[in-house]
Amino acid sequence: MSDIPVGQQRVDSSKRTWLIASGCAGAVGGVAVAVPFVSTFQPSEKAKAAGAPVEVDIGGIAPGEKITVEWRGKPVWIVRRTPEQLAALPKLDPLLADPKSKRNADELTPPYARNEDRSIKPEILVVVGICTHLGCSPSDKFVPGPQPSLPDNWAGGFLCPCHGSTFDMAGRVYKDKPAPDNLEVPPHVYLSDSRILIGEEKRA
Ligand code: FES
Repeated sequence: MSDIPVGQQRVDSSKRTWLIASGCAGAVGGVAVAVPFVSTFQPSEKAKAAGAPVEVDIGGIAPGEKITVEWRGKPVWIVRRTPEQLAALPKLDPLLADPKSKRNADELTPPYARNEDRSIKPEILVVVGICTHLGCSPSDKFVPGPQPSLPDNWAGGFLCPCHGSTFDMAGRVYKDKPAPDNLEVPPHVYLSDSRILIGEEKRA
């Protein structure tokens, strides 16, 4: 077994804050985006500095829930999507800037995620939670339907509060938004049905 500690703690989004301070020069003043963080499995400081992969237990994530882990100083979101959320994805293609994830694919979408779901397993989304515009961290907007700052036909996804970019439940950016690209899918691999390793594509 790996000696990398395993993340298991469910977190409360109201108690932790992720602020990409340096990347949001044009942001509305004072924007601080609350993002849940799993904090108990962090590798040592030395390992983190070396970009160590992070092993995560995803078995406790309920459908429709998201956890956030830190990898290379970045928030990585892991979402267990519901059947309804998955079913909505193909219908959104005409509204998206890059529905097939072809832009900057080598940097943003590994070959095993170049599909409609942008994932290895359809229900599990793994993306870096940093907007591809200026680096703010988007907010969860999983509930479909009309709501502030979103269109009436909103299908659920993420809203970047800095300049209004929107992303679907696969991290694909909508058309005519400041963000040029889909959210990054980091390298990752399944160690078992309930454990993934973020930062590597093959188990050593
Ligand atoms: S940082 Fe500008 S829209 Fe996200």
